[in-house]
Amino acid sequence: MEYLVKKNIVTIKNSEEKFLNFEFLLNDTIRIYTKKNKTDLIELNLFKTRKKFEIKEDNGNIVINYLNYTFKINDKLGFNLYINNKFITTYSFNIYFDDYEKKNYFNTTLNINNKTDYIFGLGDKMSYLDKKGYFYASYNTDDPSHQDELFPSLYKSLNYLLLNISDNFLGLYFPSTYRYTYDLGKTNLDEVKINNFNAHQDFFLFLGKSIKDITKHYSFLVGHPYMVRMKMLGNSQSRWSYENEKMVMDVYDNYKKYDLPLDYIHLDIHYMDGYRDFTIDESRFPNMKELTSKLKEGKVEIVAINDAAIKKDTNFEIYNYLEEHKLFARLDKKTYINAVWPGDSAFPNYNDPKCQEYFKNIAKDFLIDTGISGLWCDMNEPASFNGPLPLNVDHTCKNRKLLHEEEHNVYGEHMVKSFVNTFKELNLRPYIFTRAGMATTSKYAFCWNGDNFSLWHHLRYSLTQNLSLSLSNFMFNGVDIGGFGGDGSKELLIRWIEANAFMPFIRNHSSLNTKNQEPYAFDDETIAIYKKYLDIRYKFIPYLYNLVYLMNKEGSPIIKPLFYNYENDKTCFTINDEYMVGDDLLVAPILNKDERNRIIYLPKGEWINYFTKDKIKGNKFIILNENLAETGYFIRNNTIIPEFENLKYIEKEEIDTLVLNVYGDHGETFIYEDDGKTLNYEKGEFNIYKASIKNGQLTFTYKKKGYNTPFKFLKVIYLGKEYKLPFNEYKDFTL
Ligand code: GLC
Repeated sequence: MEYLVKKNIVTIKNSEEKFLNFEFLLNDTIRIYTKKNKTDLIELNLFKTRKKFEIKEDNGNIVINYLNYTFKINDKLGFNLYINNKFITTYSFNIYFDDYEKKNYFNTTLNINNKTDYIFGLGDKMSYLDKKGYFYASYNTDDPSHQDELFPSLYKSLNYLLLNISDNFLGLYFPSTYRYTYDLGKTNLDEVKINNFNAHQDFFLFLGKSIKDITKHYSFLVGHPYMVRMKMLGNSQSRWSYENEKMVMDVYDNYKKYDLPLDYIHLDIHYMDGYRDFTIDESRFPNMKELTSKLKEGKVEIVAINDAAIKKDTNFEIYNYLEEHKLFARLDKKTYINAVWPGDSAFPNYNDPKCQEYFKNIAKDFLIDTGISGLWCDMNEPASFNGPLPLNVDHTCKNRKLLHEEEHNVYGEHMVKSFVNTFKELNLRPYIFTRAGMATTSKYAFCWNGDNFSLWHHLRYSLTQNLSLSLSNFMFNGVDIGGFGGDGSKELLIRWIEANAFMPFIRNHSSLNTKNQEPYAFDDETIAIYKKYLDIRYKFIPYLYNLVYLMNKEGSPIIKPLFYNYENDKTCFTINDEYMVGDDLLVAPILNKDERNRIIYLPKGEWINYFTKDKIKGNKFIILNENLAETGYFIRNNTIIPEFENLKYIEKEEIDTLVLNVYGDHGETFIYEDDGKTLNYEKGEFNIYKASIKNGQLTFTYKKKGYNTPFKFLKVIYLGKEYKLPFNEYKDFTL
C-alpha cells in the first residue's frame, strides 16, 4: 500500500492500484471518496480544509490520526475507525454487479451492533426514529397509499444518516442526486449497507463532539434552512378544495365567528382554470384580487397550489412559451408527455436558468395580479400518473448533459428555486412550500409530508416523520393535521392538534370526497379544544420565532427528539412519542384512541406541567391522567418563555406587548425581533434582547439594536404576579 499527501487530501493506493481519498475538513468532517461526485446541481457550502493529521504505516495498514480520530486502512481500502483509541466501526466498500440492471454499482458497508446501536435520519420516511431493521430508498416517490415503515421511498430523498455506533454519534451524508438504497440491518442484522446507483463512492463523515455539532456541520454543508416569515408560524386551513369564493369566505367567517386564530387559507387545484398553473377559474373566483383584499382586512392571506407539470394545450400561454423555447424535458427529441391532474402534461426543465427566469416572472405577475401571498408547490417528485418518467428523459440545458436519472431527486428543488427570486424581488421572504426535495432544498422552501391518512398510527408517525426531517435539515415542516385521506373523527382531530400544536408549520388539510375536518366541522367541544391549543400556539410565537432564527443562523432544528438534548440518556433514544421544542418545552401528547392515561418520560432536571403547574423531577417515567381536552406539555423549570398575548393572527407591527413569562423562580433568555416578513433583516435590521430575572430583579437589554421596534410594553409574569412596564432597557430593576 502507498499513500500520497497533497495539501489536506490523503490518497491511499492499494496493491491492486485502486484509490481511496480522505479529505480533511474543518468541523471534524472528512470527505471520503474514490472520485468526487459533481455537486453543481445541489450547491454545497464546502468547508475549508484542515491539514493537521499524521500518517504512518503499521503492519501493512496505513494509519491516519486526525484530532482524536484514527483510521486504520487495509489493503482492500476498508478501514477501522477509532475515537479516542476506542474501536467504533469498520467501513468497507466494493463494486458489485446488479443482475437486474446489468450495471456496476458501489456499496458502502458499516458494521453496527444491532443490540446496542441506533440509526436515525433519512428525512420523511414514515417510521420510527430508529430506522434499524428496515430497508429504504432515496428516489422521490408519489405513492398516495404509502403505509408506514414498509414503504422504502416517499416524496423526499435526504441522504443523511445519524448513527449511534458503540456509543458515539456520527453523521453520513451522500452528496448526489442519483438513487440510493439503505439496507439498515435488514438483510444482515449487524450491517448497514448503502448502495449508490451511478454516483461515485463519495460521502461526508461528520465526527463532531455532540449531535448538535454534527447537525450544525451537516446543515452548514447542505445549507441552513431559510428564514421564514413570522406569519408562517400561524395557523393554515386547507382542503381539496375550497373550490369557490363562497367556500373560502365560509372558512374565514367561521374562524372569525368562533374566535379561532388563522393566518392563511390554502387554495387547492380547483381554483385553477382546468388545472393550468397560474390561471384562475373565473366562474368560481370572479375577482380574486377583491377576495384576497377582503381577507387581508381580517389579516388572513391566501396561498395557492401550483403543480410541477404543465397542461399540454396549445391554447395555454405557458405551454406554448416553454414548447417554443424548448424548455420542456424531452424524449427521443420530442417533448415528453405523461399525465398529471390536467391529463396530458409536459415537464418544464426547471434546472434551466431560462426556465427559472420565466417562472420567476410568471409567478411575480400572478402574485401581484391576484394578491395571493404564497406558493404551494406540489406533484414535484415529479408525480406522473402513466408510470414513472423513463430514466433517459432528457433535461439537458446548455452544455450540461442531464438525464432524468440524475435530475429526478432534485426536480422538486429546481422547481421551488425558480420562485425564490419572485419573492426576493418583492422584498419578501419566500412563502414556498414543497412536497418533494432533498437535504439542500430547505434553503429555498419549507415542506409538508404529503398525503397521510386520518389514521391513529399516522398521527403517531407525524411526530417521528417531522423529527426525522428536522434531523435531516428540513427543519420547517409539518403534516396534514387531521390526516389527508379518509374520514377523520372528532377525537382524532382533537388529539392531532394537541400533538402537532408546536410543529413548525401547522395546517389542517384533507382530501377530496372526505368528511369535512375544519375545527368547527364536529361540535362545540371540538371547537373549544381546538381553540385552546391554537391559542397556546399563538402565545408561544416569539419563543418559536427565536427558534426560527437559530434554525436559519446556525442550522439548529426547531423540534427535536429527546435524545438530541439528552444524548447521554439512552432511554431518550427509544422515545418516539414525545418531542422537544427548542430546549425548554417538552411535548408528550396522547396518540391513541380512548387513551386517558399515558406514560411520559421526563429527562433529567425539573419540569413544570404547563396545565397543572405541578413541578416534577425528571429522569423517570410518570403517568399522567388526561381527559380529551388535556395533553402533556412541560416547561423546563427556571426558564423565561417569551410570549405574545391574545393573538388571532400574526401581524408583527400591530403587536405592542412582549411578555416575559417566568416558569420557576428565575430564568434567562434572548429574544430575536425583526419586521417578520421582509429581507431587511439581512441588512442588519433586527434586534436581539437579553432578558434575565433573578431574586426579584429584571435585566432586559439590547444585545444588538438595528430595528425600530413597535413594542410599547414589556410585561413580566413572575411568581404569580404581572408587571406591565414601558418598553425600555432595564438593569437590575426591582420588580
Ligand atoms: C396531492 C397533494 C395534496 C393535494 C392534492 C390535490 O395529492 O399531496 O395535498 O390536496 O394533490 O391537489
